[in-house]
Amino acid sequence: MKKQFGIITTGGDCPGLNAVIYSVFKSITTQGAELIGIYQNPIHSKEAYSSEKIEYLHPSIISRPGTFLGSMVESDVNYFDPQRFTNMEKNFFKAIEPFNLSGLFVLGGDGSIKVAQQIYKKIPIIVIPKTIDNDVAYTDYAIGFRSAIETTVDLLDNLKSTGGSHKRVMIAEVMGRDTGFIALESGIAAFADAILIPEKPCDLKSLKHFLMTRYEESKTGVLIVIAEGVSHIKDFIKTELPLPSRYTTLGHLQRGGKVSAMDRIMAAHMGSYAVDIALKGLWDQIIIWRDQTVMHTPLSNQSMKRYVTDLKLDICKKLGIFI
Ligand code: F6P
Repeated sequence: MKKQFGIITTGGDCPGLNAVIYSVFKSITTQGAELIGIYQNPIHSKEAYSSEKIEYLHPSIISRPGTFLGSMVESDVNYFDPQRFTNMEKNFFKAIEPFNLSGLFVLGGDGSIKVAQQIYKKIPIIVIPKTIDNDVAYTDYAIGFRSAIETTVDLLDNLKSTGGSHKRVMIAEVMGRDTGFIALESGIAAFADAILIPEKPCDLKSLKHFLMTRYEESKTGVLIVIAEGVSHIKDFIKTELPLPSRYTTLGHLQRGGKVSAMDRIMAAHMGSYAVDIALKGLWDQIIIWRDQTVMHTPLSNQSMKRYVTDLKLDICKKLGIFI
């Protein structure tokens, strides 16, 4: 009988998930094993999971954002059911019962990894990190980040052009939960005037002085990129600055965009590497990308979160960006 492995996507989706599933599927089947897809049905904790052998995947799936397996985030779980996690765990094992899984590939971010550790602790796991926030510890890269940046920069360019026509202060809130990776990278790529992130406390007086001067000097308005973790600063800008401003939350538009070539390449690296170590019997690992190389680190006893430490202050200073 062929060896069988499961695959599941958990937490907020991102572009590149289908590419990872395809990469795992190709590597597994090329090496004579089988892949079982674990499908999710958000909201219904009693019928949250079902599973099916993946017989074939059309190659074009790599360019499709989202995940064809479905994915649950904590807020999707039925909060009115006090037994929800017990029910979900039972349902999960019932769903995989017909198969003889040697282990499970979990495509998840920091939150999903913690939940996955609790819910699926009875089955060996390899995590492939994914999140547009890029805030999974120990890895420089999580699947989805570069695609989200590409989309975000396109959206920021749009705001910049309309803001320029009317000489407005355009404030764009980007995702990232309590971290600033998206804001920092997309803000630099869009040549924003100011980038505000949770990791760098902002002196409001200096911000006000900077924005008043910049607006005065500018012919084309001002673009501020603000991470959602410090979105309250927009109230200060709106109320304390006598400038015409508009506020836009880019929100989920950043998650559903095109899958970048970079994410396809990372999917190929991480997916095939995960299969390699699984076939060698090395489980309970997280796949990481460091020094331009794919490697692994144990899943146990690790904090799964990282924050911006390289604030790129030097480059921001040279570009005249307030941070
Ligand atoms: O973690 C990814 C992310 O998109 C964050 O940037 C954002 O704060 C959150 O998920 C939004 O979650 P939801 O899709 O549940 O609203």
